Amino acid sequence: MSYPLSDDAQDLLFRTARTHHAWQNRPVSDELLRGLYDLMKWGPTSANTSPARLVFLRTAEAKQRLMPALAPGNVEQTRQAPVTAIVAYDLRFYDQLPKLFPHNPAMRERFASSAAAAEVTAFRNATLQGGYFLLAARAVGLDCGPMSGFDNAKVDAEFFPGGTVKSNFLCNLGYGEPAKLLGRHARLDFEEACQLL
Ligand SMILES: Cc1cc2nc3c(=O)[nH]c(=O)nc-3n(C[C@H](O)[C@H](O)[C@H](O)COP(=O)(O)O)c2cc1C
Repeated sequence: MSYPLSDDAQDLLFRTARTHHAWQNRPVSDELLRGLYDLMKWGPTSANTSPARLVFLRTAEAKQRLMPALAPGNVEQTRQAPVTAIVAYDLRFYDQLPKLFPHNPAMRERFASSAAAAEVTAFRNATLQGGYFLLAARAVGLDCGPMSGFDNAKVDAEFFPGGTVKSNFLCNLGYGEPAKLLGRHARLDFEEACQLL
């Protein structure tokens, strides 16, 4: 079948894109990180809540602050990567709704009055935005190395001491070493993962 997006673009985003664990010594500009965000921000979230918050660690000093929180297997890949992003979510995302959802002022109150509604909405939508983040990174030519092997409480204490922003996952960014990739694992077939009702 042919789709509106070219085969090359489909490969770049999905089929040949891989998770990288080894990185070339090649810098990533702040401009590219801004370009990544300027794509991912357009992905949809409920009531346009946009709860994801990103911290880009670009220096050895900044990454050093992360190291004590990492699972041992994630330390060397994170040290090598030119950038490590903390993909987080803001439990006070509703403070931005006057800008993001201006036609319905009641929406802010709905979340401000229920910590449970705010939490589930923040986590669901920021995780969606995390997926948009991975695809946007690939679209601007970067490779990704997402990681959940870390101590969230330690990361939150170090980077988000205010208590209202929480880490979700980490993602190394840069240009991977294709020669160091291992074989790719299978994915579930349509029949195994989907139903047509
Ligand atoms: C949310 C998330 C967390 C992950 N956590 C880790 C991790 O802590 N350490 C690691 O080495 N790989 C981690 N991975 C990498 C996955 O194992 C990898 O993306 C998956 O096997 C697919 O690999 P492929 O993209 O090369 O096909 C993580 C991936 C995702 C999406």
